[in-house]
Amino acid sequence: MKLRIINGPNLNLLGRREPSIYGNESFDDFLIQLNSEYRNIELDYFQSNVEGELINTLHNSNDFNGVILNAGAYTHTSVAIGDAVAGISTPVIEVHISNVMNREEFRHISFVSKNAIGVISGFGLDSYRLAINQFIRINSSK
Ligand code: DQA
Repeated sequence: MKLRIINGPNLNLLGRREPSIYGNESFDDFLIQLNSEYRNIELDYFQSNVEGELINTLHNSNDFNGVILNAGAYTHTSVAIGDAVAGISTPVIEVHISNVMNREEFRHISFVSKNAIGVISGFGLDSYRLAINQFIRINSSK
């Protein structure tokens, strides 16, 4: 199984950025752990602060069994990223490290959710593990 993780703006700063909300671990370190935990899954990782690059990467995800998308703040603002999720046939799980429903009201809106197969929010970096586990379940029941 091949899964792609796409992280949006500011998620390159994980580990240094607002650690009380997002934790102390960098995504690079977390990826090393994920790769050793899920040895039989091919995990691809892409991060960008640029909206169009996120859209292009979504469009180029046909070869993957699933996409795990944390669009960061673009989740709450980007009609274009929402449309990209709607426009591809690869299933997308929306993830957030923090519980966005527990935070400012502008974070309660998502342009991604409607076209994602599900949303996982609030479990720290475990949100990504939960999404991988869900894709494993979906794939094994096919
Ligand atoms: C986030 C939540 C967003 O509201 C925020 O803009 C982020 C990270 C999360 O993972 O909790 O950049 O997507």
